[in-house]
Amino acid sequence: MDAIRITNLVKRYGTVSAVENLSLSVRPGRIFGFLGPNGSGKSTTIGCLTGLLDPTSGAVELLGEAFDSENAAIKKRIGVMPETLGLFDPLYAHEFLAFVARMFGLDEVTTRQRVTELLDALELTDTSKTLAEYSTGMRKRVAFAAAVIHSPEVLFLDEPFESIDPAGVALMKQWLRRFADQGRTVFMTTHVLETVERICHDVAIITKPGKLVWEGDVTLLANDGSITFNGQEFHTLESLFLHLTGEKYTDLNWL
Ligand SMILES: Nc1ncnc2c1ncn2[C@@H]1O[C@H](COP(=O)(O)OP(=O)(O)OP(=O)(O)O)[C@@H](O)[C@H]1O
Ligand SMILES: [Mg+2]
Repeated sequence: MDAIRITNLVKRYGTVSAVENLSLSVRPGRIFGFLGPNGSGKSTTIGCLTGLLDPTSGAVELLGEAFDSENAAIKKRIGVMPETLGLFDPLYAHEFLAFVARMFGLDEVTTRQRVTELLDALELTDTSKTLAEYSTGMRKRVAFAAAVIHSPEVLFLDEPFESIDPAGVALMKQWLRRFADQGRTVFMTTHVLETVERICHDVAIITKPGKLVWEGDVTLLANDGSITFNGQEFHTLESLFLHLTGEKYTDLNWL
């Protein structure tokens, strides 16, 4: 059984096509990197996979079951850190995380324990500030905590490491590896390709509007291996990504 299966997904915003006929699947226990240029449809796809957006057409299956935004049972088994974070700004971090935990059905004791452990581990112990008063990286850490607090089976992360400091990134990467080692699944977007080479097992690269141009196993790259595409050999994900999505340099003579 696949953890995630997308079939002919289409999402349009009015007449703007954001995802056009995307099909792919992700096996359990894998960390899957979903890559593509700005505006290529990554966040839109994550929205459709997590019930934040309704697809225009196509089918999504999560953990072997048909999924749509009404499917509350599956929603309890997935975690999501959306691009927009989805925090409730007037609350303190511990209040927000407790609210999320209770919404997922965790009991009071487990809620208290996990909120404390997450806030300690993520060094979010400054309790004098509301979420509105937190720094960008602190807000991102809270959104990550909210995505994992109920111990989901599939985790969707939209640019999880952006704005997080190196120690935070290292911690999150260790958690994600452990998460996948237990047979659970991570679906993440990022523009940091070195990170992808280090932690992702599989990668899909899309171009605008949400069209799959390459997918494959990238674990070899971490061990100095290479990827062959159309008879050409690529030793880094960056070189493959630029080959597939286009590289350009424009000289600005006033800069
Ligand atoms: N709410 C919206 N209304 C109209 N168009 C939208 C909306 N959200 C996204 N789009 C369009 O859909 C396309 C895909 O956007 P999306 O945010 O999914 O890209 P992305 O791959 O996540 O980009 P980035 O790397 O910049 O985060 C873009 O053309 C964008 O302008
Ligand atoms: Mg995005």
